[in-house]
Amino acid sequence: MTGRRPAAIDTVRFDEVEAFPPLADIEHGQLFALSLSTSTTGFTHGLHRFAAKFVPQVPAWALDTFGSRTSVVLDPFLGSGTTLVEAVLRGGTSIGVDVDPLARFIARAKVTAVDHERITALAGELSARWRAPSATLERPMPDVARFGHWFGPAQWGWVQSLRDTILALDCSDDERAFLLVVFSSTLRWVSNADDQSQKTYVSGTLAKTAPAVPATFDRFLRRAVDGLADLNRKRHSESVAVIPDDADATRLGLGPETVDLAVTSPPYLDSVDYPYNMMLEYFWLGPLLGVPDRKSFNALRRRPIGAKNPLDRFGLPPSLAGSVTLDAMPPARRAAAATYFTLMEHHFSEAARVLRPGARYAFVVGNSQTLVDMVPLHDALIGLAAAAGLTLERAFGYRIRRHYMKFPRNGRGGIILIDWVLVFRKGPPAGTPGALPRHWVTLAPGAVAH
Ligand SMILES: C[S@@+](CC[C@H](N)C(=O)[O-])C[C@H]1O[C@@H](n2cnc3c(N)ncnc32)[C@H](O)[C@@H]1O
Repeated sequence: MTGRRPAAIDTVRFDEVEAFPPLADIEHGQLFALSLSTSTTGFTHGLHRFAAKFVPQVPAWALDTFGSRTSVVLDPFLGSGTTLVEAVLRGGTSIGVDVDPLARFIARAKVTAVDHERITALAGELSARWRAPSATLERPMPDVARFGHWFGPAQWGWVQSLRDTILALDCSDDERAFLLVVFSSTLRWVSNADDQSQKTYVSGTLAKTAPAVPATFDRFLRRAVDGLADLNRKRHSESVAVIPDDADATRLGLGPETVDLAVTSPPYLDSVDYPYNMMLEYFWLGPLLGVPDRKSFNALRRRPIGAKNPLDRFGLPPSLAGSVTLDAMPPARRAAAATYFTLMEHHFSEAARVLRPGARYAFVVGNSQTLVDMVPLHDALIGLAAAAGLTLERAFGYRIRRHYMKFPRNGRGGIILIDWVLVFRKGPPAGTPGALPRHWVTLAPGAVAH
C-alpha cells in the first residue's frame, strides 16, 4: 500500500447533522459534518485546551449507542477527559488512563464534583488577596533557561503571585486543583508564545502583545465556574469517574472482561508531542505533578505512544509486514513508527483482554500529519485490532473543526480534515463491513479550517 492523492474538498459529500445518528442509520463509510452551531465547549469541555481533543459528540454518540446507566466505560488514551465528562452526565463507572500527568490533572478537574459555589467564594477570596505581582521573579522550574523568553516581566510577576495565592488558599485539594487548572488554562494566553498553534514557540513574525493576567484569569475563571455549575446540575447521581496514576494503555491494571465499552482517540503515528505542547503549563505546574525539572520533563516526552524518540524501541509487528512499509518515511522516523505500531498492537491485545465478549470499542483515527500520507494508518490499525480479536463492525467519518487553526495553511502541512470513528466489536467477524472509502481531503491552498 502506498500513499493516496489528496481529493479536492468539494468532491466529497458531507451530511450535515447536529449529532451523529443511531448506528442502524449510518452507512459504512458515510461522512458527516457536525453543524457549526453544535457546541463543543459546554460543561467543562472548554476548561483547558489540549492537543487533538476530540469533539464531545463522538463519546456522546458511543455512550448513547452502546452504553447504559450502569456501564463500565474505559478511555485508555484519556487526554483531557472528554469521554469522562460525557460519561458522568450519563451514569455508570468511567475509567480514564493516560501516561501524561498534566492530562490526568486536567481531566480530574473536569469531572470532580467540586461545589461551584465554593469556587465562586474562593474566587472572591483570591481577588481580595491577589493584588500585586511578585516583587522577586523566580523560575517556577529551576533549570529552565531563558524563562523571560516565555513570559514578560509583568506577566511573570502576576502569574507567580497568582500561583502562590492559590497555593496559600484555605480550601480542599479538589478545589485547589480546579483553580490550578484554570490558572494553567490562562498560561499560554498571557505568555509570549503563539496561541494559535499547538506547538509552544514564540513567533518571530507574528508579534504578540500578551494580555494582562488579572483580567484574563478573571474571565477564564468565570467561564470555568459556569461550565462546572452546568455539569453539577446535569451530572448523573450514580456516576463515578476513576483516573488511576499508574496505568498505561498497554497495561491497564483492570481485570479480564470487566469493561462494557471503550471509547478513545489514540495518539497517531508521528504524533503530537503532548508534553511539549504543554511546556509552559509544565514549567508552572510540573513541580506539583511529579515533574520537577527539565530532565524529568524530557523523560516524560519519551513515554507516550507515538513519541518521536521513544524510551523503548521495537520493530514493526510481523502481522504488518507486507502491508506496511516504512520506506517512504525519513529514516530517522522509521524506528519511532515501528515502535508506534508495536505499542498499538500491545494496546489492542490489552483492550481485548479487559473488554467483555461482544463489547464495542469506538476508536477515532484522524490524520493530521504529513507522514500519515505515506502509511495507511487506518488499515494498519484495523489489522492490528483484528489480530487481537477486535473486529471492525462499522466506520464513519466526520469533518473536523479545529478552531485554533483559523489561519491559512497555504496548502502546507497536509492537514487532513476527516476523522474516522471505527467501531470494533470484541468477537469474531459477523460479516465484512467492506473496505473504507479512501477520502483523503486536504485543505486547498489558502483555505481556512474551521
Ligand atoms: C489524542 S490524545 C486524547 C485526547 C482526548 N480524546 C481528549 O479529548 O482530550 C491521546 C492521549 O494519549 C496519551 N497516551 C499516549 N501514550 C499513552 C499510553 N501508553 N497510555 C495511555 N495514554 C497514552 C497521550 O498522553 C494523550 O493524552
